[in-house]
Amino acid sequence: MTSLTVGANGLAWWTAQRRTFGNIEGKIVMEKRNQASGTESKQLLDRVASARSRLCDKLIHLNIESLDISEYNQRYLESKIAGINDMLQLYGRLLYLSLNNSPVSPENFVLVDYGGGSGLISFLALEMGVGTVIYNDIYDVSCADVRRLSKVLGLTLDHVVCGDVDELILYLGENSIFINSITSYDVLEHIYDVESHFKKLASLSGSQFRIVYGSGANIANLLYVHSVRKRQIEVEYKDREKRPGQKGRDSLQAYLGARKKMISSYAPNLSSEQVEQLACSTRGLIQRDIEKCVDEYRRQGRITYHPGHPTNTCDPYTGNWCEHLLDFGWLEQILENEGFSVKILAGRYNTSKSLLKKSVKLVFNAAIQILGRWGMFAAPYYIVYAEFFAEKAAGSNRCSAAHETSR
Ligand SMILES: C[S@@+](CC[C@H](N)C(=O)[O-])C[C@H]1O[C@@H](n2cnc3c(N)ncnc32)[C@H](O)[C@@H]1O
Repeated sequence: MTSLTVGANGLAWWTAQRRTFGNIEGKIVMEKRNQASGTESKQLLDRVASARSRLCDKLIHLNIESLDISEYNQRYLESKIAGINDMLQLYGRLLYLSLNNSPVSPENFVLVDYGGGSGLISFLALEMGVGTVIYNDIYDVSCADVRRLSKVLGLTLDHVVCGDVDELILYLGENSIFINSITSYDVLEHIYDVESHFKKLASLSGSQFRIVYGSGANIANLLYVHSVRKRQIEVEYKDREKRPGQKGRDSLQAYLGARKKMISSYAPNLSSEQVEQLACSTRGLIQRDIEKCVDEYRRQGRITYHPGHPTNTCDPYTGNWCEHLLDFGWLEQILENEGFSVKILAGRYNTSKSLLKKSVKLVFNAAIQILGRWGMFAAPYYIVYAEFFAEKAAGSNRCSAAHETSR
């Protein structure tokens, strides 16, 4: 990379930060400020804490190798259990935010664990006594594994929805289920079309629900961004070896190479330079959208799509992003457009380690809180916290419909 490119990338990054923080003036808040104090919150905190301790006990006594689950989830669970207290602290926080101040009691609450992976958020919610827990994941192997784990842990999961948001919405409609919250961790940065994802959630009629999506892909945290950009460049340009326990869905081919292959087999008449140029310009697109770009190129000699970020990239076969670094201002805007009221919360460091580590993390947490919206630079993750009121959204749609007809 030339120093000019590095300089240009640095400038692009800084512009993105300015845009992100400039746009959402004061709307990034420390999650503590969002929590209501009072007996109800205290009760909920206690409920989360005792569920965490029970689930932790069950998990550390599991003999993972003897479980009849995939190698992928055996490894995944092992890594979670290695830091189980931190993990459960984080999941507990997401569940607390999902249920706190809700007019619905935990026993009557309907919670979706979106992109649940090995199911720990679902199991913690069940352990807390949440009335209805719906586990979802796009990966069929994880859906099957979670059913088995549910039996072993003695935590009955009545709803397992395998698929994307479309399958989830279909399932809820067919079973006349109205949700109270959709909660997830480390999934938002993998969803192919985030805008359409939220649009679809906003179409859930009759529901008054909350979105609590935590994600470690914090675009404001420079250390994290530095390491993730290296990974993005690697998956874009380098083929990978199959590792034990690798997810079956993940492509091992370099994403750029995969796009070239797709383009040349879709449009065999294009020259190798044209294929190369189109493959570079379609970074961040899935096959069907790449083909649309090729059609546009053949019609107009150019394409309108432009990768908005210097390194963000996705698997062109599945649309799974390699840690999509998302602009907070943009996230907030697309949710507001769909009738959600949104806050982007700065995550906190978990404090279950040794006294020394705990003290350092407590200092960091205090700094994040004091720094307000600038605390996001040091935060280990962020949370999209959004409330959806169907009537409010209908009102805003009615207004935009009236606006359309008056034009
Ligand atoms: C990094 S893992 C996180 C799993 C789990 N939430 C956790 O905290 O361990 C991301 C999960 O999201 C799932 N996923 C990715 N894209 C998805 C989508 N569009 N819809 C549903 N699940 C998705 C993946 O299969 C994977 O299990």
